Amino acid sequence: MTEVLPGAEVHADGAPPADPFALARAWLPPDEDPERPRVTLSTIGEDGYPDARTVLLSAFDESGFAFHTARDSRKVAELAALPRAGIVVLWPDFGRQLLVRGDVVRDDDGPAAAAWAARSDYLRRLARLNTGELAALPLAERVSRWAAWTEDPAAGPAGSWVGFRLRPREMTFWAASARTASRRLQYVRTGGGWRCRPLPG
Ligand SMILES: Cc1cc2nc3c(=O)[nH]c(=O)nc-3n(C[C@H](O)[C@H](O)[C@H](O)COP(=O)(O)O)c2cc1C
Repeated sequence: MTEVLPGAEVHADGAPPADPFALARAWLPPDEDPERPRVTLSTIGEDGYPDARTVLLSAFDESGFAFHTARDSRKVAELAALPRAGIVVLWPDFGRQLLVRGDVVRDDDGPAAAAWAARSDYLRRLARLNTGELAALPLAERVSRWAAWTEDPAAGPAGSWVGFRLRPREMTFWAASARTASRRLQYVRTGGGWRCRPLPG
């Protein structure tokens, strides 16, 4: 595992790791950790303007960064029209930022079931109930429908739930430093590996 200094620097002194996923693994919590990083997911709107929202990072590995969302959401329509996205992970707190840009593919059912199992009761309820119909109701009705819901623990992911995986073509790690200027390490995918270069903050 890549050694990373507590607090700030992008990586321990010396040559940067050749594999950006090793660095990401050292930075981010494991997939089993119920505390999921909050991620700004940026897409291109169907009107051509950038779009963005927060999602939870469900999981990641060498095949990409996974997130889950509602099938009928705006982001899903945008990704169908143009399957490219960027995510910014600010983790932990304000000391580190990871930017990932790349192509987005649908995740298959296995990873979705694992991500569903790792979600809290609250988030599962959200996935089941957070519909346009509910959003249009008065507060009292939204509260009573929420309270009346009981989740079947054996039930699989909500039918509305769909997973995506962002396959990086570029990963940029930013770290603050208490001792010197903030700095980035940018990895760009090449034919057989990654080209890495340092950038100013
Ligand atoms: C902290 C936080 C975490 C969120 N996590 C998710 C998530 O994992 N998936 C999701 O679909 N929406 C999540 N949301 C809601 C989205 O930000 C967004 O409002 C919703 O997905 C609709 O986005 P869209 O209309 O751009 O598709 C989260 C919001 C916040 C503030």
